[in-house]
Amino acid sequence: MSGAALLEVRNLAMRFGGLIAVDDLSFEACRGEITAIIGPNGAGKTTVFNCLTGFCRPSGGSICLNGAGGRVQLNGLSRHRIAGEAKVARTFQNIRLFPAMTVLENLFVAQHAEITRAASLLAGLLNLSRYRAARARALDTARDWLDRVGLLDQADTPAGSLPYGAQRRLEIARAMCTRPRLLCLDEPAAGLNPRESAELNDLLNTIRENHDLGVLLIEHDMSVVMHVSHHIVVLDHGVKIAEGTPQAIRNDARVIKAYLGEDDQAEDPCGRGRAA
Ligand SMILES: Nc1ncnc2c1ncn2[C@@H]1O[C@H](COP(=O)(O)OP(=O)(O)OP(=O)(O)O)[C@@H](O)[C@H]1O
Ligand SMILES: [Mg+2]
Repeated sequence: MSGAALLEVRNLAMRFGGLIAVDDLSFEACRGEITAIIGPNGAGKTTVFNCLTGFCRPSGGSICLNGAGGRVQLNGLSRHRIAGEAKVARTFQNIRLFPAMTVLENLFVAQHAEITRAASLLAGLLNLSRYRAARARALDTARDWLDRVGLLDQADTPAGSLPYGAQRRLEIARAMCTRPRLLCLDEPAAGLNPRESAELNDLLNTIRENHDLGVLLIEHDMSVVMHVSHHIVVLDHGVKIAEGTPQAIRNDARVIKAYLGEDDQAEDPCGRGRAA
């Protein structure tokens, strides 16, 4: 892998009662790269994201983010500090927008913490212009991202009435409005048609090229994974069974077996269609 390790996951474990959802998982993700986490349904992919972003408290192991401000241990931090201070943003497998709010409001609300930080400073309270400036910046950022994901003309539409693919793009825009150091995308191509998947590839590549961040990508759509990923981590039943470049993963016997089973009857997952 090239570049400095932005994220270091060491011996991560997550148990739910007797179920081991993630088992002794170690991997790294680099700044400037897209690292995919793939695996069959129930492999533990979303649970890894939940551990990274504070939605689950890991049963064991460590998660560290290296940034300009030094090294931050994420496990142990609240989800609000992980988002606000460590700058880890995520999207959700099941879209979690505010459906009754407009598209623009969804992006504005995402920046609430930054706006209130400006307002809560004593200087900010005494000087409303500071608060207004923070609001204006947030609106500019929101409009900028709406433009980049092709939703500027939908700014005043309730988010819940957008087509599915547009809601997925809005979730990515919302995450990007928080200026993340690590962007975690949970199945951003789910429900997209082939044209929308190709557009998603372009969007992910543009984000990666133009922003100083690392991307973690959970995805079943191999037309996305194989085109945009630099590095792929493969899970099966919570265990890492392989990691490497798209080319190496495509030809890895354990990966093929995990997706296809012993009899090789199912659809080929590695590069030619949906995996699971
Ligand atoms: N909060 C929870 N409580 C109990 N079990 C859970 C919880 N979250 C996940 N699991 C279990 O952990 C295992 C891994 O689930 P996870 O959602 O991480 O899989 P996944 O790889 O994201 O699957 P998919 O591709 O279907 O989204 C599954 O057996 C799931 O039922
Ligand atoms: Mg999942």
